[in-house]
This record gives sequence, structure tokens and C-alpha cells, in this order.
Amino acid sequence: MAADILSLKGKIALITGASRGIGEATAKLFAEHGAHVIVSSRKIDSCQAVADEINHKGGSAEAYACHIGNMEDIESIFSYIDDSHKHIDILVNNAAVSPYYGDILGTEAAALEKTFDVNTRGAFYMTLNAANRMKLIKGGSIVTLSSVAGVRPTLFQGAYSMSKAAVLNMSQAFAKECAQHNIRCNVVIPGLTDTKLASALSQDPEKYQELLNEIPLKRMADPEEIANTILFLASDASSYITGTSITVDGGFLGAGGK
Ligand SMILES: NC(=O)c1ccc[n+]([C@@H]2O[C@H](COP(=O)([O-])OP(=O)(O)OC[C@H]3O[C@@H](n4cnc5c(N)ncnc54)[C@H](OP(=O)(O)O)[C@@H]3O)[C@@H](O)[C@H]2O)c1
Repeated sequence: MAADILSLKGKIALITGASRGIGEATAKLFAEHGAHVIVSSRKIDSCQAVADEINHKGGSAEAYACHIGNMEDIESIFSYIDDSHKHIDILVNNAAVSPYYGDILGTEAAALEKTFDVNTRGAFYMTLNAANRMKLIKGGSIVTLSSVAGVRPTLFQGAYSMSKAAVLNMSQAFAKECAQHNIRCNVVIPGLTDTKLASALSQDPEKYQELLNEIPLKRMADPEEIANTILFLASDASSYITGTSITVDGGFLGAGGK
């Protein structure tokens, strides 16, 4: 029988924003491939529900609340991992917010700060904490979620787009300095995906049709289709890949437009 090149057997994987959407799909997929998954977001009950479902199906998961915009929460989750697991093999920086949808000229300071506190500073300190621990075990994989908006700004999502551009560069900076410790850092760039984050767009039929016209495959992604690429980058199947990104967008960036 062929070996499972996507196996995560015996790995400890922490996924932020895993209570729903792409993070939830990734948690379930990782567990199917043998990882012990730490399901994390701000809301413990929603995370526990995902962990319970994984455990019920024979996987291994637990829930831990962590608001990644809050430095004490970041310290707390890594202390917990130190105490209970002693190491971490995989981090998926998936949690993100987009609190303001509107004209960039009307962006308020609070919205800009919240967007960067979570999407950029949060991802940075999660990466820093994970990488410092992976260094001790001489290996690990960190996958960060950007967005097509981080490559080509999305209309009325200026602050979000900027925060997602920043994490592309952030991941490369970590990749450059952490390769010596056998830590790989890569980015997944999703296009429009059927989750709560995209619901504002998909619930406006006119806007939604306009967006679909720009996507060669003429549909949104399912969260599972993004999770497949996250699994590839987390696993040893991508052992020679670091400092790069994979776009999963139905052709939007490469072949989109009318
Ligand atoms: N959906 C798309 O079309 C799309 C496109 C491109 C890129 N992406 C990227 O893909 C990733 C996942 O997005 P999604 O569509 O799955 O979003 P989603 O359905 O809105 O889920 C976001 C997750 O992040 C958690 N979260 C929000 N704020 C948090 C915080 N401060 N600390 C910790 N967790 C927090 C949420 O749970 P709680 O509310 O319980 O905290 C939830 O689990 C994001 O990085 C997003 O930018 C999505």
C-alpha cells in the first residue's frame, strides 16, 4: 500500500479561527490525517463543538480559547501547549476579521487598528511564538492565510486588503530566517470562499454575480478546497517548499477579469 504522503500522524497542530469556515474544515482534515488538533478561536463553546465532532469521529482534538488580538491570550495558549504537549509541529494562522466594509476614505482609526491587531500583529506573534518552540525541535511548518485582496485590493475592503498584503511579506521574512531551523513558512491565498466572512458579498445578488463574472471557474470555493492546500503545505509532501504562496482562487488572479 502507498504511504500517505499527507500524513500528519503524531503531529501537534494549532489552528486559529477553527470554530467555523476554512479553519473548521482544516481542523477536520488535519484530524483525518492523524494530527492532534488544537481548535482555537475567541469562543470556547464553538471550538469545543468542532473538537467534540472530531473526537466523536475517532480523531484527536481539543479546544482552547485565544483572541489573537490580545497578547495575554497568545501567551496563555503557548504556555498551555508547553505544559500539556511540550512542543508544537504545525501552526495555521487562519483567524482574521474584516470589521469595515466601505469607502477607504471613511476608514476610522478603530477599524484600522482592529484589522491590523488581529490579522497582522496577531499572526506575527502567533508565528513568533510557534517558531521559537519549533526551533527547539528543529522543525515545523507554519501556514498563513492571506487573500486575493492582499495581492489586488478588494473594493471597499482597503484596511483588510492591506493587512493581508502584510502577512505575505511576514511569512517570507520568517521563512528566510527560520529555514536554518528547518521551519517552513508558506501562505495560502484563497479567493472568494463560502464562509461567514464572505456572506456580506454573497448575500448581495448583484454584487455576487459581478464577482462570479471575474472568476474563471464561475463559483466560490468550498472551505474544504482551501483546507486541501493548507494540508499540503503543513505536511511533509511539501518538504522542499518554503517562503512562497499558493493561490486557490478559481483562476481569479491569474486568468480572471472580463
Ligand atoms: N471567505 C473568503 O472568501 C476568504 C477569502 C480570502 C481569504 N480568506 C481568509 O481565510 C481565513 C479564514 O476565513 P473564513 O472565511 O473561514 O472566515 P470566518 O468564517 O469568518 O471565520 C473566521 C474565524 O476566525 C475566528 N476569529 C475571528 N476573530 C478572531 C480573533 N480576534 N482571535 C481568534 N479567532 C478569531 C472566528 O471565530 P470566533 O468568532 O469564535 O473568534 C472564526 O473561527 C481568513 O484569514 C480570511 O482572511 C477568506
